[in-house]
Amino acid sequence: MDNIVLSCANVTKDYDEGPQRVSVLKGVDFQLQRAQRVAIVGASGSGKSTLLNVLGGLDKPSGGEVTVLGQAFSKLSENKRGKVRNQSMGFVYQFHHLLPEFSALENVAMPLLIAGQDKKAAQDKAQELLSEVGLIERIHHKPAELSGGERQRVAIARALANDPACVLMDEPTGNLDKDNAMAIQQLMMSLSKSLAISFVVVTHDEQLAHTLDLVYELADGVLIERAS
Ligand SMILES: Nc1ncnc2c1ncn2[C@@H]1O[C@H](COP(=O)(O)OP(=O)(O)OP(=O)(O)O)[C@@H](O)[C@H]1O
Ligand SMILES: [Mg+2]
Repeated sequence: MDNIVLSCANVTKDYDEGPQRVSVLKGVDFQLQRAQRVAIVGASGSGKSTLLNVLGGLDKPSGGEVTVLGQAFSKLSENKRGKVRNQSMGFVYQFHHLLPEFSALENVAMPLLIAGQDKKAAQDKAQELLSEVGLIERIHHKPAELSGGERQRVAIARALANDPACVLMDEPTGNLDKDNAMAIQQLMMSLSKSLAISFVVVTHDEQLAHTLDLVYELADGVLIERAS
């Protein structure tokens, strides 16, 4: 397990609430190595966001096991699971989920404050991260005062705040133009090298998928490695 940051074994997910039972994940096996950058592609509705939520411990699988840094999620208390999530994982959601009332700086500092850092240290770190994603001039802007690409970069800075071992991204370049998409791609590339951060990136962007280390396709509820 030494070099494996995140893994799942025979993960299934059924939704029972709707008019009919839907089996979205039918036995997903997956391993993510340290500093590896992996793309997940698949048709709309194939279950990519569902898989990402299960991998991130935001949603429970119906069966199977997700393991983060050697710790099986199902064996952890709710509280401990939250801690592992906060300390080891970063999330960039399909829709950015920044807090509208807070500035870019405050949004990025939030996970650090939740982790118990004092305000000054949290703000210093947030400022450094925002500078890294090219937003030093925008730190006091609220989400509504930022462009789509800028918001996405704030979300990425926030995901990196706690020096996570891995970052899970759902369509990080979905609403971005080519230049912004490229900038985010390069940022991921350099972070995986310099800080040994692993990335799982759900994307429809073939160009982005191609630049990552591995591409998986989610189809019929299973994940298959695509020949590159
Ligand atoms: N809470 C829920 N209850 C019932 N069914 C759900 C629920 N969430 C998702 N689904 C169903 O599960 C399937 C997978 O949804 P999911 O959001 O994971 O797809 P996706 O691959 O991320 O799609 P997209 O590319 O459009 O974002 C869909 O058919 C959806 O209708
Ligand atoms: Mg989705």
